[in-house]
Amino acid sequence: MSALTATRWVRWPEAHTLADGTESLPAGAARIGYGADYNPEQWPEEVWADDMRLMREAGVNIVSVGIFSWALLQPTIDSWDFGWLDRAIDLLHANGIAVDLATATASPPPWLTELHPEVLPVNRLGETIWPGGRQQWRPTSPVFRRYALALVEKMAMRYADHPALSMWHISNELGCHNVYDYSDDAAGAFRDWLQARYGSLVELNRAWGTAFWSQNYTTWHQILPPRLAATHPNPTQQLDFARFSSDALKDYLIAEREILRQVTPEVPITTNFMVMGETRGMDYADWAAEVDVVSNDHYLLVADPQAFEELSFSANLTGQIAGRAPWFLMEHSTSAVNWQPVNQAKTPGQLRRDSLTHLAHGADAICFFQWRQSLAGAEKFHSAMLPHAGEDSTVFRNVAGFGRELAALAEVAGSRTQQARIGILFDWDSWWASELDSHPTELLRYKAEAMAWYTAALANGLQADIVPARSVLAGHGLAGYDLVIAPMLYLVPQALADALTDYARTGGHLVVGVFSGIADADDHIHPGGYPGAFRELLGVRAEEFGGLLAGQTVRLTGELPAGSTGSLLTHDVTVQPDVEVLARFDDGPFPGVPAITSRMLPSLAGAAGRASFVATVLDPAALAALVGRFAAQAGIQSLLPEEVHGTVQLAVRQGDTQDYLFYINHSARAVTVALRPADGRLSALDLGGSTLAADTLTLPATGVAVLGRARTDL
Ligand code: GAL
Repeated sequence: MSALTATRWVRWPEAHTLADGTESLPAGAARIGYGADYNPEQWPEEVWADDMRLMREAGVNIVSVGIFSWALLQPTIDSWDFGWLDRAIDLLHANGIAVDLATATASPPPWLTELHPEVLPVNRLGETIWPGGRQQWRPTSPVFRRYALALVEKMAMRYADHPALSMWHISNELGCHNVYDYSDDAAGAFRDWLQARYGSLVELNRAWGTAFWSQNYTTWHQILPPRLAATHPNPTQQLDFARFSSDALKDYLIAEREILRQVTPEVPITTNFMVMGETRGMDYADWAAEVDVVSNDHYLLVADPQAFEELSFSANLTGQIAGRAPWFLMEHSTSAVNWQPVNQAKTPGQLRRDSLTHLAHGADAICFFQWRQSLAGAEKFHSAMLPHAGEDSTVFRNVAGFGRELAALAEVAGSRTQQARIGILFDWDSWWASELDSHPTELLRYKAEAMAWYTAALANGLQADIVPARSVLAGHGLAGYDLVIAPMLYLVPQALADALTDYARTGGHLVVGVFSGIADADDHIHPGGYPGAFRELLGVRAEEFGGLLAGQTVRLTGELPAGSTGSLLTHDVTVQPDVEVLARFDDGPFPGVPAITSRMLPSLAGAAGRASFVATVLDPAALAALVGRFAAQAGIQSLLPEEVHGTVQLAVRQGDTQDYLFYINHSARAVTVALRPADGRLSALDLGGSTLAADTLTLPATGVAVLGRARTDL
């Protein structure tokens, strides 16, 4: 097994003789996890044997079990029924399938919410969120915690020694529906959190700026979550509530984890994150240190014209959060999902392309929701590995074909993703704070801004890493990046401003995007002109914001493609004499004013750094041109020929002796990539319909080729 393998990973079962007399793979054998959520409780037991046969045919080697089974495991307050789960796990083991065992706490049973309605969450209007769906529990409820932790302990004790137990799966998508709870439990826990953060009411009143609108607090008890108010609630109160809500769930995760660690210290622990997608409530860069294995769930949003780029972004960010070590794709879909307003089947090749894109970004397990498509319940129209149509179906043939392919890619397991030379900063505090109400515009969206820069890198045939600002604050974020982009980094504590300034002053190129550097950690403005935290470094100063209406654009002139425009927000920028103006606003609120600036910095460490500023939201072509220019200036070259930029993504994983190059054609037409001697000697590992010739690689529509290259740096 590769020496680069993460210290903790799925604990694969020891080799044993299977039901059919064959031997299972030994624990240490390299493999990529392949499987799904498995919900045998939805089916008569006669069906299970068929499940095993088809799982083996599909190459399934791990499944998540028991996620939503609390109500069956504990049918009443004082009765338990583990029989069916024992039988299901035994059967899986007898078929060589490892178990990622859920703690089963994701959704409380009806008897619990009937007995204790005080565990139900409350929305900001004070309305109760009733049972009937799922995840109807308050993250801070001591009553819920008591019952849930009792179940966790029962599960841990019962299955501690089961040889199939390969990983613990805490709850499920913590915070998917219940991250923001405004109940009295939440109010009490929020006050405790605030006391720990601020120490005194004087400090809280300062941080929240309560001199404004007569909000000065004189007892802790007066403080509430930001429930429905007459008008804009206090912004720092809202921001702190977002921080608190992420922390409250993290605290719950830790509570479950501690029980598991006590009973089964040798079993790795995970919980499935939802990096990007439609959720933003959980700061996963902060949560990652609490789990042994970082797992992610990702669903393509069909209405998003940049769905592929979003997938790639999410996978990259997950990999960065995991420290570029392997991570676990816990869920994605084989085809349609059921919960978007309009749902579509995946096009041919898309299951493979999406799966391999996750793999390219470091996933060492590719799993789906779910194994067998339900006949009843809210997700009966959600695709699965085994669809309603049965095994004689395109989906199942794709699933089984891809399982065989993954088995052949086993050697990739354990390799790490190669660090890119461009880093794009990503920060949950800025996400939360920048999108609060009563701002210069409501139209700016944090994720869209970060995505736009990532897409612009891809459009230049370049890979960028999404770097959590937290890792910069922890002191290990920026080494190795030649170009660092800060999109909409609205909230900048002094330590972050210092780290980024140091980066630029010691030879890096820092690019600061629109609506950045505005506020400090308390969401108070950095005074003296915008973008306060970076004003000195950039040599620019703006006094006003010029918000643009939806659909309104301003023309830009300068070193940009003809017809370039800005939208959503502009600044009235003035510059220091040593600042180069790359483009100006031609019309709009500030005609003639600099829109894009760049400043060479006197270097403290030999190499000259650079700090650049973009004072509006550029159209995609303009942004791509700008990223291309900055990358070239920093000596970053694409490894792909120009004609496939924006069509083919190249992501690289590094093993001990081999690099694995994933050429991903994310377009709907076939493309040919000209290979160059500088690419080294490439060998075909998995072509999947592509053709590798001496100096070309031809990829079909949505095709992915995995090539190997001996590492030259050894
Ligand atoms: C996830 C969840 C699964 C299933 C899936 C459907 O949010 O963890 O239980 O609901 O989505 O896409």
